[in-house]
Amino acid sequence: MSDEGHVLDVLLTENRRFPPPEGFCDGCVVYDPAVYSAAEADPEAYWAGWAEKLDWFEKWHTVLEWTPPHAKWFLGGKLNVAYNCLDRHLVGPRRNKAALIWEGEPGDTRTFTYWDLHREVSKFANVLKGLGVKKGDRVAIYLPMIPEAAISMLACARIGAPHSVVFGGFSPESLADRINDAEAKVLITADGGYRKGSIVPLKANADEAVKTCDCIEHVVVVARGAGLTQEVAADMAEGRDHWYHDLMAGASAKCDPEVMDSEDLLYILYTSGTTGKPKGVVHTTGGYLTQVYATTKSVFDLREEDVYWCTADVGWVTGHSYIVYGPLANGATVLMYEGAPNYPDWGRFWQLCEKYGVTIFYTAPTAIRAFMRVGEEWPNKSDLSKLRLLGTVGEPINPEAWMWYREVIGKERCPIVDTWWQTETGAIMITPLPAVTETKPGSATKPFPGIAATLLDDDGNETSAGYLAITKPWPSMIRTIYGDDERYRETYWSKWDGIYFPGDGAKRDEDGYLWILGRVDDVLNVAGHRIGTMEVESALVDHPAVVEAAVVGKKHDIKGESIAAFVTLKQGMDGTDDLVAELKEHVTKKIGAIARPDVIMYAAELPKTRSGKIMRRLLKDVAEGKALGDTTTLADPAVVQKLQAQYEEEEG
Ligand code: WT7
Repeated sequence: MSDEGHVLDVLLTENRRFPPPEGFCDGCVVYDPAVYSAAEADPEAYWAGWAEKLDWFEKWHTVLEWTPPHAKWFLGGKLNVAYNCLDRHLVGPRRNKAALIWEGEPGDTRTFTYWDLHREVSKFANVLKGLGVKKGDRVAIYLPMIPEAAISMLACARIGAPHSVVFGGFSPESLADRINDAEAKVLITADGGYRKGSIVPLKANADEAVKTCDCIEHVVVVARGAGLTQEVAADMAEGRDHWYHDLMAGASAKCDPEVMDSEDLLYILYTSGTTGKPKGVVHTTGGYLTQVYATTKSVFDLREEDVYWCTADVGWVTGHSYIVYGPLANGATVLMYEGAPNYPDWGRFWQLCEKYGVTIFYTAPTAIRAFMRVGEEWPNKSDLSKLRLLGTVGEPINPEAWMWYREVIGKERCPIVDTWWQTETGAIMITPLPAVTETKPGSATKPFPGIAATLLDDDGNETSAGYLAITKPWPSMIRTIYGDDERYRETYWSKWDGIYFPGDGAKRDEDGYLWILGRVDDVLNVAGHRIGTMEVESALVDHPAVVEAAVVGKKHDIKGESIAAFVTLKQGMDGTDDLVAELKEHVTKKIGAIARPDVIMYAAELPKTRSGKIMRRLLKDVAEGKALGDTTTLADPAVVQKLQAQYEEEEG
């Protein structure tokens, strides 16, 4: 018998539910719930059905070969990802449709039709060939959110050179580690990129990095940061560095797409866990494109006339799958924005939605909570009436943030898709289907059709609260860790036999809905109760004064661990002692005394990774009065140092 509650105790219940809005189903992509049972009965046939909607030079002979932990999808199939994202749209009316509408942070704009984008990609593919890049060679990309980022990725895909995109916010050292691990031959960067009104000196960082990268033969530099271009021009290394525009000026626009095998490498993307050297997640061609294509179309209910905006950076997997490959394979119009959400003020995102008539908007809980904090006057200044669907990804979304998103941004009209997935899964795995699924605030609901997910305990028994587990291979799954297959087995496949371990805790409710409770390394153990950080945090965020909370365990002689909470208040709220008492009471009322925080501290900001995830491990160091662990993955190390000083003063 499975010991329920062994892995996690279920504390919070949420009773609000929202069926698909009236009229949403008219003309929608997926409306028939029977898709779930059909896909479950024959997942391979289901995925093959999607693969058939792509263009293949040669069809596969076998859908799946599964020798755990290694999967191959669409064996024998030949295709090219750039061909599927571009060339195949040039034959009909999509030829002159906007593929990419771009706006820079200073307000400059550029628009590329599918025809334009195809030309730019083909030219840059020839540029790369001219620099000696051949099929199989790795290319590193370290760019701001400018069209050349998408162009570079697609040009690599066109010639069969796997790319490794490194987020522009990473330091020279992080860039160098990634370049060296992948042994990239060429680095594509820019002189700079705009962020919060200043220019990030990417070329200077790249120069610093490349000093320790013997593998780099050429550096291509896009002229972007007007103020920096001259300075950078003086530092161009003869023979190694080249301006993008110079190379493009002489390039031919005819470049036949390389015929790639379904299992050829498409890209490597490094993901930094909380510790250890970053892992080079390997994604291949046919299965990856099939699943990003299928999920973009179904989950976002993508239709021909949509204007689709995903606010992620191309440096993360969300940018790969849901800015570039998924939407373009579907022939969508994609909005891309270079800068910060609060530049020049907190109205920027909503002005962009109004200006471009955005219909589908996909962002992260951390952004939603930041908008909640500054207040609804910002979105209320813009006309958001074109929006028809909202999405979220990256962290569990607290029910109150979900409700705010629904009411203030979606005006109670737009379904919300809370999509659970990972860099390693490549594409969305657990999500509502907007015209089919009744949603509940805070639940990612159910596995996408064709995905087999369940909850297991340490012994591999089914439970209703435990570890999330993926029991069957899926097309866009990680194939290995680049250069370290042993680590791949160890990290994801050693917990159970032939079952993928994502590292998240989750619970299942009486309707079979899944609720992701956060990373299992963050789980608390209070007097023998296993408590997910998510539930206590959501109880805190449920209080009207709180917009964001992070909860950690603190060593306790009797209880094992006691709870320390760090909370960020709504703008204008006072962090008083009375409020601390009230918040403790609020948690007790919502969840029970077991989850009552011993300590609550006000935090102007919480420490987050560069992709916006709260780093609870460091807050635990603060709460336990220990020296801070590794802070190199933080967006701003000063945030946690400040909290540490404040903690010592207040709780010391
Ligand atoms: C981890 C993966 C997937 C693209 C962006 C992040 C957390 C992600 C959700 C969600 C609850 C979520 C998980 C997961 N996560 N989406 N909808 N609800 N948690 O990619 O950096 O590889 O992070 O993000 O903990 O394991 P990533």
